[in-house]
Amino acid sequence: MASRIAYVNGQYLPHSEAAVHVEDRGYQFADGVYEVIHVFNGDFIDADPHLARLERSLREMQLRQPMSMRALRAVLAEVVRRNRIHEGIVYLQITRGAWPRDFAFPPAHVPPSLVITARAIPRYREDVENLGERAISIPDIRWKRRDIKSVSLLPSVLGKQKAREAGCYEAIMIDDDGFITEGTSSNFWIVGQDGVLRTRHLSSDILAGCTRGSLMALMEGEGIKAIQEKFTLEDALAAREAFVTSATSFVKPIVAIDDKPVGNGKPGTITRTLHKLYTAHVKAHRRAA
Ligand code: PDD
Repeated sequence: MASRIAYVNGQYLPHSEAAVHVEDRGYQFADGVYEVIHVFNGDFIDADPHLARLERSLREMQLRQPMSMRALRAVLAEVVRRNRIHEGIVYLQITRGAWPRDFAFPPAHVPPSLVITARAIPRYREDVENLGERAISIPDIRWKRRDIKSVSLLPSVLGKQKAREAGCYEAIMIDDDGFITEGTSSNFWIVGQDGVLRTRHLSSDILAGCTRGSLMALMEGEGIKAIQEKFTLEDALAAREAFVTSATSFVKPIVAIDDKPVGNGKPGTITRTLHKLYTAHVKAHRRAA
């Protein structure tokens, strides 16, 4: 296998030697933002919404953009090229730079840190009927700005670990009023008992998933409607179908929650249709000549 290369603050380095300073604010305060973009056929899936969300996260955190978006796209493509990624993910992280530890921002001249890595992931699976996964529910103990894709992910780390220990793929988080927010690293959808497709509306309570957004645009083209409103764990447990979306999960059926089957315990009709729709979108990407 070809050796992995990481981009760190202007340099392309062997992955094993890539590092940031011990006083990097990402390391000390989780003072940074990130993006994960799926690469298929060497091309980025939904690059525009991912980079638009990155710009928004930076703005909301009052973090300086390390370079123009045009330059950033070129570096992302170069990291994918140097790692010879056909199918995989790129990870991009921007922090408020390295500076002697102090909670307040460092002086304006301190440059942000930019790290980009890439790795291959298993082939995109089209056999959605075999992709059903189980989930648990957990309380959502995160902060109140979940719309920012911050690297401060401890509640999600603890939640995902709890899911893994229960033999599950994802933990679905419940807010203080009993409504589902989202998965620890995915957006959550159900097809209710009434046959209606639902996912929580966008607000600072959830991350505006790029997969969620692009799936909705694809659905609009097909005349498939979804209601964007919040719903409870009870609604999900009584649902006909459930699934999560993310850059790494794509459209992933959830067939059991807290050990109770969702619907008949198999990926449902609407989930399968949406998986097919998203698959066509992914496969439409071709490596730029
Ligand atoms: N997670 N909600 C949360 C809390 C997430 O962390 C993610 C993505 C999503 C889905 O967003 P998108 O469709 O743009 O990937 C929703 C990424 C994959 C991660 O942290 O690895």
